[in-house]
Amino acid sequence: MRTKIVVGNWKMNNTIAESTQLAQEVLAQLGEGFSGCEVGIAPTFLAIQAVGSVIGGSPVQLTAQNCHYENDGAFTGEVSVRMIKAAGCSHVIIGHSERRQYFGETNSTVNLKVKKAMSEGLTVIMCVGETLEEREAGVTGAVVSSQVREGLEGIDDITGLVIAYEPVWAIGTGKTASSAQAEEVHDLIRTVIVKLYGEAVASELRIQYGGSVKPSNAAELFAMPNIDGGLIGGASLNAADFVAIVKAAAEN
Ligand code: 13P
Repeated sequence: MRTKIVVGNWKMNNTIAESTQLAQEVLAQLGEGFSGCEVGIAPTFLAIQAVGSVIGGSPVQLTAQNCHYENDGAFTGEVSVRMIKAAGCSHVIIGHSERRQYFGETNSTVNLKVKKAMSEGLTVIMCVGETLEEREAGVTGAVVSSQVREGLEGIDDITGLVIAYEPVWAIGTGKTASSAQAEEVHDLIRTVIVKLYGEAVASELRIQYGGSVKPSNAAELFAMPNIDGGLIGGASLNAADFVAIVKAAAEN
């Protein structure tokens, strides 16, 4: 039985003060003793430490939105795995489609980051997903399979890894993949993992869905056999909506 995981990706939203307040609201609405599923929130790097002091000791996991694969050095504007760990992060999102689309990330840079973060013991959420053009061209399966294969190249042990399937056309657009569309790709991802790592490893792998998840569609998505939670953008900026989605995951 896989424990569901729901993570709020706050993207480039909220000042330090706003982030602190949102984290407090999430904690208050979730309840200190919440244990129904794994929960994380991913503020901007600037607010990581402040949010960490709000959620420290609670069931909510501090998550980074990105990391670099080197320990330190001349990489202006970047933050290393060593640094985010020292700031209290247990989880990191790698290869989000916005990183791929606007910041030049490729399957090979994603691979370097995944290797580094996993070797340092972080829970990695590796994002994959096709664009609208790719879906319409009928190459969703091929694109997502190569993102998974190339992102994991050379990694022998994927214990603890989470994959987030986020169809680019469903992110921030209000267009959710139907639960059947999402399930089809989640099943395909699990089949790729069976080929690479075997049945036992694949059956433990958690695959989140992301793309316009809301309180109104969360339960239906999370009820699908291969959907093990969600990576939530817009709806995670509202504590009540985010907590409603978390509770939907805990009940499914
Ligand atoms: P939305 O929930 O705003 O569509 O964003 C999804 C996402 O990109 C989460 O990482």
